[in-house]
Amino acid sequence: MKTELVVGDIRKHRADMLVVNLFEGVTSPGGATGAVDKAIGGAITAAIHDGDFHGKWGETLFLRPGKGLASPRVLVVGLGKKEKFTPDHVRQLALPVMRMAKKKKISTVASVLHGAGAGGFDQEETARFLALGAVLSEYEYDRYKSEKEGRVSRFQVVEREKAAARKVARGLAHGAKLGEAINWGRDLVASPPGDLRPDGLARAARKIAGGKVRVKVYGRKEAEAWKMGGLIAVGKGSEVSPRLIVAEYRGGRPGSPWTALVGKGVTFDTGGISLKKWEGMEKMKYDMAGGAGMLAAVRAVAALGIRRNIVAIVPAVENMPSGTAYRPGDVLRMMSGKTVEVLSTDAEGRLILADAITFAKKRYRPDVILDAATLTGSCVVALGSVTMGMMGNDAKVLARMREASAASGERAWELPLHEEYLEQIKSDIADLKNIGGPEAGAITAGYFLKEFAGETPWVHLDIAGVAWREKERMGYAPGPTGVPVRLLVEFLRREGTGA
Ligand code: BES
Ligand code: ZN
Ligand code: ZN
Repeated sequence: MKTELVVGDIRKHRADMLVVNLFEGVTSPGGATGAVDKAIGGAITAAIHDGDFHGKWGETLFLRPGKGLASPRVLVVGLGKKEKFTPDHVRQLALPVMRMAKKKKISTVASVLHGAGAGGFDQEETARFLALGAVLSEYEYDRYKSEKEGRVSRFQVVEREKAAARKVARGLAHGAKLGEAINWGRDLVASPPGDLRPDGLARAARKIAGGKVRVKVYGRKEAEAWKMGGLIAVGKGSEVSPRLIVAEYRGGRPGSPWTALVGKGVTFDTGGISLKKWEGMEKMKYDMAGGAGMLAAVRAVAALGIRRNIVAIVPAVENMPSGTAYRPGDVLRMMSGKTVEVLSTDAEGRLILADAITFAKKRYRPDVILDAATLTGSCVVALGSVTMGMMGNDAKVLARMREASAASGERAWELPLHEEYLEQIKSDIADLKNIGGPEAGAITAGYFLKEFAGETPWVHLDIAGVAWREKERMGYAPGPTGVPVRLLVEFLRREGTGA
């Protein structure tokens, strides 16, 4: 799908469908919506007066005015209450719009910049969210569908003001590039687990190489040489040996520090010998969403030319039960030298992440480590699918992450890492154990990682509840959401300015 800017009068622009908007409670629309309304003989104001349309959040009004415009169809979308409207709402609106366009087999959609007029939003920012939303909403995993749905080929933004054209174009380009990188990652997450095993994830990662991105893939031999006891143990049950995927992006000045992005890459989590129950197990193909997200983030920062050195490190394994699998009761010696008693082979994510964090520290001496993982069901219990969990060891980085969260619209809520939680993961026979009991499961998992991050500023994102959606919500279609790529790119972009 092409995303493009059209400068001119929306009434004279020819597309298959125009998209205009209305805030809740407005009875005589102004701006582009008002102009369109007048051109079609007041059909929008009539709908408002008759109670057919109120401008409520997510509400839509579809019209075929017949004459008055160069385009045959008009979709009016409700923006809801003005005081509640945020830039992320612009992204969310794209879903019903693109869905309508697909249903009607429309190929060109032309929209106004929602919120930029009456809402008073910055045009570049609004354009960024609008293009992002359109690209994300156009996505569909249809590889195995014999009959594919129609695709929208052009998403146009119509802007009247010539003076705003450059800003809007810049915002659109940014949003589209970000959206494309996110969709690339979503495809990996949606792939069936038999199609995408650790070797397959590595192969996919190689595709982001080129320009300033270098991808290296290490295997069991290197993992053994580096004494990655966690990665090796978790990978032992599978026919496909583990991989350590490293994608370096050198956008910063030579010698400037690295930011490490560590992502959980369990291509399928059966639980291993501590086997999960069958119900819902198929969903554990998304247990590599953190890893895919980190690779997608590198793809995005490269496309956007962010001036910072960023390295994604993805430990990739398949957690399988077999005669060669690791067992509950085993004690592992991790790359850092710490020992871990395994109480459940299903708490595998923290084991591979711990080694990847140690690798990041030793190899890159990063000034900050961010990790993302579908780490605990406990986080889903605590926060549901509305926000991811966030933990860390550095108040400044956490504050910057909160700012990036607010700006990007991807929610992250901090959980505390009080020292007292450490008791729950102390083992009788080793330094640590890999589960901390029924209480505060998201936190004890985070605490486990903190023991490996050590003094390096680090933030952990538990995305178990938000990386995949069962039902449409918050502008996300069911399936992989691409969370937390927007949050990460926003964080890195803020960090990266002037570097
Ligand atoms: N991949 C799961 C966590 C998960 C659960 C992700 C639900 C997405 C949705 C993780 O490896 C796991 O199995 N965690 C266990 C930990 C427990 C054994 C301490 C869990 O959360 O039940
Ligand atoms: Zn597990
Ligand atoms: Zn897992």
